[in-house]
Amino acid sequence: MTTTVHNLIDGQWVGDPQAERRNPARPDELVSVAPSSGTDAVDAALVAAGQAQRAWAATPAPARGAVLLDAADLLRSRQADVARDLVREEGKTLAEGMGEVRRAIDVLRYFGSQGWRHGGDVLPSAVPGTTVFTRAEPIGVAALITPWNFPIAIPAWKMAPALISGNAVVLKPAELTPVSATHLAAALTDAGLPGGVLNVVHGKGSVVGDALARDPRVGALSFTGSTAVGLGLHELLHARRARVQLEMGGKNAYLVLDDADPVAAARVVAAGAFGLTGQACTATSPVYCTPGIHDAFVAALAKEAEGFVPGDGLDPATTMGPVVSEAQLATDVAAVERARQQGATVVAGGAEPERQLFAPTVLTGVAHDADVVRKEVFGPVVAVIEVADYDEGLARVNDSDYGLTAGICTGSLAAAHHFAEHAAVGVVKVNRPTSGLDLNVPFGGVKDSSSNTFREQGPTATEFYTWSKTVYLGFE
Ligand code: UN1
Repeated sequence: MTTTVHNLIDGQWVGDPQAERRNPARPDELVSVAPSSGTDAVDAALVAAGQAQRAWAATPAPARGAVLLDAADLLRSRQADVARDLVREEGKTLAEGMGEVRRAIDVLRYFGSQGWRHGGDVLPSAVPGTTVFTRAEPIGVAALITPWNFPIAIPAWKMAPALISGNAVVLKPAELTPVSATHLAAALTDAGLPGGVLNVVHGKGSVVGDALARDPRVGALSFTGSTAVGLGLHELLHARRARVQLEMGGKNAYLVLDDADPVAAARVVAAGAFGLTGQACTATSPVYCTPGIHDAFVAALAKEAEGFVPGDGLDPATTMGPVVSEAQLATDVAAVERARQQGATVVAGGAEPERQLFAPTVLTGVAHDADVVRKEVFGPVVAVIEVADYDEGLARVNDSDYGLTAGICTGSLAAAHHFAEHAAVGVVKVNRPTSGLDLNVPFGGVKDSSSNTFREQGPTATEFYTWSKTVYLGFE
């Protein structure tokens, strides 16, 4: 079945569908046709958002929250259908797709319930007869530019904090995954979200994303995607002093110490490196091993890699979905070929281009400055490198342009604490995969991974979408 996707502007589903998306597991299956919008659609969305925002902000926060909670219930009732559509357009396994839709539901519930406590603080004043309080004021109109790899969860975790704080939103979903974003928007409109409060404009980043970034009516822009695009957006937003939040690339190193169990460590690394077909900015690579565990770890990781069953995500036997696109497959193939030229040995894995598959790939013999160690691949490719000891491992982990997540496998509390303190990343995982996040805690990175401004998710997420006004109230 082919879904006809429309833009959502001022509560109406509009726009001529032109851009085709095929199922990465079955290229002959047309999944969707979506608008490839021009700047006129962006303008219409911004007009609608600007008009709707005041009334939405004036709506009591618990009533705003009720819409999010009702949307969560609707999405829950549609979860299986939405997850199937997500798998058909993005390619992940059905289990991963169900989990992602569940995450979007939980995000809506979390921020929906925040409606009961949204506001500011009451503080003592040094002036007698005076109370000071703060108000969390909405920015106004927020633009969200989201990637294909979490096509419903990322739009949800950006729009839910924006909406609960009284902002109107214009979402530009990834071109490869327009259907998942449509399901999210439909759940919100079906739950009674007033027209214009959420607008969705499909199209190219170079057209729709660029127009949003340049438009002074956009007070805040949140982006998840590549570092190259993110840094360009940062320039534009920064120049007009608008808020910008960027979640960009990652190179998420793992340190495996001698005292770890090699099989348990291999499971943790495999989950982080190969889950979601390695298509996460939190995907694990490289792995640094101290000498006593290196060989046993490589053997255990190769075994884990070979245990995956790549295939169509809708096939219950599949444990790893296809690569999202031919272009991404070519990138994965080129990254491994380049690693080979730079001295790597391929211990497991490789491409199966006829089915757009890329089996979990383990590389050894890689130098620390090899491209596969330093540059993001966005595929299921992990390089394992031996280091002399913990200190060298920590130094290697931190010698990176990126700073999103990093992990350590150890039973030593002292090593775990030292690593947590000294790893130059936004998220540290001890004995847990680098990918996979709880929704109620802050997420973000440092260095080239993030704008280093506002964290996503958890209680800090609404800070990006609000500004603080301080009121001195004299009462005598
Ligand atoms: C996760 O690891 O569960 O695009 C989420 C990404 C990140 C989110 C990762 N922004 O991969």
